[in-house]
Amino acid sequence: MLIPKKIENALNAHLELEMGAIYNYLAVASWCESNGYEGSAAFYYKQSAEEQLHFMKFFNYINQVGGHAHVPELKQPQTSYKSILETCQKSLAGENKVTQSIYKLVELSRKENDHATEAFLKFFVDEQLEEEMQFTRLIDRIKLIGGGPQSLYYVDKELERLAGTKTEGTEGA
Ligand SMILES: [Fe+2]
Ligand SMILES: [Fe+2]
Repeated sequence: MLIPKKIENALNAHLELEMGAIYNYLAVASWCESNGYEGSAAFYYKQSAEEQLHFMKFFNYINQVGGHAHVPELKQPQTSYKSILETCQKSLAGENKVTQSIYKLVELSRKENDHATEAFLKFFVDEQLEEEMQFTRLIDRIKLIGGGPQSLYYVDKELERLAGTKTEGTEGA
């Protein structure tokens, strides 16, 4: 079976967003770690590993259906942040962009009668909802905990707890 050229190009364009997410979460994890937020660093390293699985799912799919996956070229991501709250807000904005791209891919696959790609994308529709809910809840909780200096400890613990509930490397597989 050959993938329609339009779909192949759109999936290749989407690879850039998944790779961008790997980079962004890695950069955030590094900022957290170097600033002593170890729980948050663990959380973001896991996010980055999860995005790598997403990237490979798209990458392998393109080749499996007769297309040619390309490795995207990327810019250096943002390297420093004002607060953990900002990392969550930026992460949510990034996930929103990915969701929009996936919705567009679903629309395109319907237009092209590419049922295989539409079925492939179902996992990502569900995954994006989960990711957006996760960051929305986190932002709400951080705002509830407050921005005082003692709060930082509790915010970091909250992210550490979340990292612990994620299955190592397998979520999103
Ligand atoms: Fe992703
Ligand atoms: Fe994501």
